[in-house]
Amino acid sequence: MCGIVGYIGTKEAKPILLGGLKRLEYRGYDSAGIAVIDQAMSQVKSIGKISSLEKKMANQEFPGSLGIAHTRWATHGQPSDINAHPHIDCQGIIALVHNGIIENYQSLRQLLMQEGHEFVSETDTEVLVHLIEKHYEGNNLEQAVQRALLQSQGAYGIVVVSSSEPNKLVAARNGSPLVLGIKKGEYFVASDVAALLPYTRQVIYLNDGEMVTMDRDGYKVTNLFNQKIDKEIEKIKWDLAMIEKGGFPHFMLKEIYEQPQAISNTLSGRVKGGQNIVHLRSLDGDIIKKLPHINSIKILACGTSWHAGLVAAFLMEKVLRIPVTCEQASEFRYRSPVIQPGTLAISISQSGETADTKGAVELVKELGAYNLGIVNVVGSTIARLVDGGVYLHAGPEIGVASTKAFSCQVTALSILNLGLSKILDRSQPLPSGKPRVPDIDFKKIVDELLILPEKVEQVLKGVYDIKSKRGIVHKIAEELQDKNNFLYLGRGYNYPIALEGALKLKEISYIHAEGYSAAEMKHGPIALIDKEMPVVIIAPSDSEEPISYDKIASNAEVVRARGGRIIAIVNEGDKIISNMAEWVIEIPNTLAHLVPILATIPLQLLAYEIAVLRGNDPDMPRNLAKSVTVE
Ligand code: M6R
Repeated sequence: MCGIVGYIGTKEAKPILLGGLKRLEYRGYDSAGIAVIDQAMSQVKSIGKISSLEKKMANQEFPGSLGIAHTRWATHGQPSDINAHPHIDCQGIIALVHNGIIENYQSLRQLLMQEGHEFVSETDTEVLVHLIEKHYEGNNLEQAVQRALLQSQGAYGIVVVSSSEPNKLVAARNGSPLVLGIKKGEYFVASDVAALLPYTRQVIYLNDGEMVTMDRDGYKVTNLFNQKIDKEIEKIKWDLAMIEKGGFPHFMLKEIYEQPQAISNTLSGRVKGGQNIVHLRSLDGDIIKKLPHINSIKILACGTSWHAGLVAAFLMEKVLRIPVTCEQASEFRYRSPVIQPGTLAISISQSGETADTKGAVELVKELGAYNLGIVNVVGSTIARLVDGGVYLHAGPEIGVASTKAFSCQVTALSILNLGLSKILDRSQPLPSGKPRVPDIDFKKIVDELLILPEKVEQVLKGVYDIKSKRGIVHKIAEELQDKNNFLYLGRGYNYPIALEGALKLKEISYIHAEGYSAAEMKHGPIALIDKEMPVVIIAPSDSEEPISYDKIASNAEVVRARGGRIIAIVNEGDKIISNMAEWVIEIPNTLAHLVPILATIPLQLLAYEIAVLRGNDPDMPRNLAKSVTVE
């Protein structure tokens, strides 16, 4: 949440900062601002998207090759010009941008006001700039920042400049991501690498408690006690094209269409046709010694990643025959959980920066669990916290609504499940006497994983037509775009897909949608069904569990009997549920635990299409931000 950019070098700072902000706009977009230092400081802030800031800046000069900029997702204080960052001290010398929340801001604010500091905004952030101002007397900027941060509690990624030291940029992190970009004679700092890609691939990820002081000749990383820290320079593998729309009207649509390639990337090098082994580097390290003895798995994640985790929990418990639970990280971390010895925690996060998931990882580490991460963003905080893990290699996901990350997460978890099924200790049978890890048809799963990208391609072609706009998804969207409510139903592996379909619709179309287990419908939500209610039923036939299809067919009957308008997601050639539905979306046959990947695609497209028809921007839904780095 919130995007931060800073630049010090020899070039004009303004276009670099604005370009960086645009690439970070998905992190927050309710207001933006910029401050540039030449001899003096010039600054401007504006409510609204970055385009509003640009308009405001159009006729103003912003000389200088040192500056900071910010795009905001409001926490304290509503979106407004005044609450936008940068925040400036009383004397107009220091400017600061911040991502995070300063928890003790009320007491600090009172103290500073008593000392004569004048506050103009309602934000928590403003205390930081006044606190730095207070400590600036007799100190240089980095010393003042250190002293101020030692008095502050909460999460921050900050970047600070001062017109009294026009050859210096100071940045610090605790809980909110910051990455330093390095080029000869030029240094950049940003909330994530997307802002840096046009300029450099050489980066340093700051850890919590670290700060960096840059001038045009170099940089120094220290802790808040000014002790020097040696950091490794890493190379980013993403390229610029990956963070551009590439001819698609929205990032979300581009990312939906990238799924065949993204899934191939997740699979690449990890499974091979005809082989019954998986290659996961995460299982090669030290953790491999511990994994055979795990006796339970706890999956932790938020939002869409939690839905992927629910699919994995079904799968892993079924295959590995140990207890597997999946919890929302945000709830888990605050309920004094008990972690038994021998627990493996698997944390799932696209961004690797979600505050609640990160908090849950820290907690399970403390409680002694072994930690694996399923993460997309290389070098992100969660990726660095865990003992090992699987990167998705899905490429950057910019659309706020998560799409390709979900299908890659389910793919990666399926591979991990195969890996675990090989190494789990089989010597301890279940109390029933059955083997703890039954033999699974390993090769069949690998072969199915390998043709999954083709099947995803087939779904995309079958349900949606970008050019003609005549596919089934367009028809449904046109007909139902004005509805106020939707219900999504699924069972077993497809219950999380009902949740995911409803989440996608809610977040970008602003239509109220409920995802429910079809089995639970009779315990309440059935009361909602009338002839106005679109009901999406995810009902592919399940050869592994035919009973589940029969049961969901009866659930569909119940909906039909009450006049609900059924949209059925079924396998090709389905006869029973299709006959009850007003609209039928067919997907190819696949293994039960991979159906969620194929079934989610039409639901992503449906949400996208309805959002566009309602005039919403699916890439920047109201009130949301891509990575939720605050609690
Ligand atoms: O980056 P993460 O996977 O940790 O993000 C978790 C959720 O914030 C995220 O999935 C969110 O629910 C998406 N907006 C859903 O589309």
